[in-house]
Amino acid sequence: MKNIFLAGALLVCQFSWAQYTDINIVKEVKVKNKGVVVSAHPLASEAGAKILKMGGNAYDAVVATQYALAVVYPQAGNIGGGGFLVGVKNTGEKFTIDYRETAPAKASRDMYLDKKGKANTDWSQNGRLAVGVPGSVAGFFATLKYGKLPMKKLIQPAIDLAEKGFAITEQEANLLNVHQEIFQKHNASTSMAFVKNTPWKAGDILVQKELANTLKLIQQSGAKGFYEGKTADLLVSEMKKGNGIITLDDLKKYKVVERKALEFDYKDNHIVSMPLPSSGGLLLAQMLKMSGYENLEKYQQNSAQAVQIMIEAERRAFADRAEYMGDPDFIEDKTAYLISDEYLRNRWKSFNFNKATPSSEVGKIIPQPKESTETTHISVIDKDGNAAAVTTTLNGLYGSKVVVSGAGFFLNNEMDDFSIKPGVPNMFGAVGGEANSIQPHKRMLSSMTPTILLKNGKPYMVVGTPGGTTIPTSVYQSIVNVVDFKQNANISVNAPKFHHQWLPETVMAEGNFPATTISELAAKGYIFEKVRQLGRTEMILIDDNGNIHAVADGRGDDSVAVE
Ligand code: GLY
Repeated sequence: MKNIFLAGALLVCQFSWAQYTDINIVKEVKVKNKGVVVSAHPLASEAGAKILKMGGNAYDAVVATQYALAVVYPQAGNIGGGGFLVGVKNTGEKFTIDYRETAPAKASRDMYLDKKGKANTDWSQNGRLAVGVPGSVAGFFATLKYGKLPMKKLIQPAIDLAEKGFAITEQEANLLNVHQEIFQKHNASTSMAFVKNTPWKAGDILVQKELANTLKLIQQSGAKGFYEGKTADLLVSEMKKGNGIITLDDLKKYKVVERKALEFDYKDNHIVSMPLPSSGGLLLAQMLKMSGYENLEKYQQNSAQAVQIMIEAERRAFADRAEYMGDPDFIEDKTAYLISDEYLRNRWKSFNFNKATPSSEVGKIIPQPKESTETTHISVIDKDGNAAAVTTTLNGLYGSKVVVSGAGFFLNNEMDDFSIKPGVPNMFGAVGGEANSIQPHKRMLSSMTPTILLKNGKPYMVVGTPGGTTIPTSVYQSIVNVVDFKQNANISVNAPKFHHQWLPETVMAEGNFPATTISELAAKGYIFEKVRQLGRTEMILIDDNGNIHAVADGRGDDSVAVE
């Protein structure tokens, strides 16, 4: 461990894992008059910071970081998936870009039901039929409208990383090893970069020539270099090797949607988050408002009272998710009503400090859990005060596990985020109904919650995390840790987290969650289940004087880079 002071930095608390010569993991930075990037991988954060140094703004940097993540963080970084961007410019302009995957034209409501009408989650989670039409590359091009630099420059760091290779971290090595068998099951190609005869270990160099060539095609031909021509042909041939249904026409017709941000006030903050088809912003608004009715700040962080209030807010919000939320281009968008005080005060009436509210009393009952913590988040602020929060995903770890042969990138398994049969839980244990049923071209409901808090009109916090359905609850807790419990960014991000999602009835809690809180709540009827980790939150806080405090979650290889 070593402390390094960066030129121009007000104060820098940095430590590096010197285990790998070229990978420095920086967990926390305090700086002024400089841009910062926080992401799941040090090389991706550095790619973004390099773009800031070249004169790019936050939107340029977030694109370069995403391209780099597609190379150095193949478990969730992607060009074969989708995501959401929430931006606030220093002019006050707010915008969101929805580059969520869509159901292919040939998709249908019951496509994952077997002959007996039983949902087959293996089809929706693994292999070619699980893949939604990727949106990421179209999203990166849509983001250019807000940036300053050409795509040719933004993609170059990723091309270099793919072509020359990079030293993998211990976490990545472990994950690759665990997935060798399933990669081989779904990929016949012997040229696949992710499979090798001997176990992966930290420091091994991962070279991805096919991916480098795919990125070069995008560099040369723009979005068409992905959605048409050689890469599109390779993707469609990959579909035909199994039961995939994405066609050239699906790829050509993919469109991003710029949506009005979901905005609401919480105490002296104005919150800007992602609207449907992500449930993230809506759930966040519901949870903050409901726990606000109990004056959450009166209680201690992670005390039994505070946690009970928050669990009950989470329970009610997630029951609404299952019933009402889906792609607003296909269903009636009830957001305004669902976040109104008129609705939420009534919903909160059943809260009782004496006992847990049974989930059956806040929504229709349907069973079961399952957990996964994929997806990845990037928080950026540039020296001019432009902010970007992006969450992007392949859905599961390495998505469908299918790599496009000849093109070198993983395809998502985002179709599993639809309600494949009303009442059947997806890989996150979330159940859904008609609002999120499959239809051609529809976007599957997401939980991603890229969020920016403003104070006096200026970015105060940029935050987000991976974690499937645990995303909105981790973002919620990270925000109240700062706003209500007055913690700094480091404590807020790394504090033990919990998660409840209406169904199952159990509350997940990280291993280091206070045992006294758990036993007090168990006495009131709450059932806790210990989980390894919840989220990997990337947070930037900016105070009134422009001092920036950026924190990368301690749960992974996440890292901050300064321009
Ligand atoms: N695939 C995780 C999400 O969109 O929430």
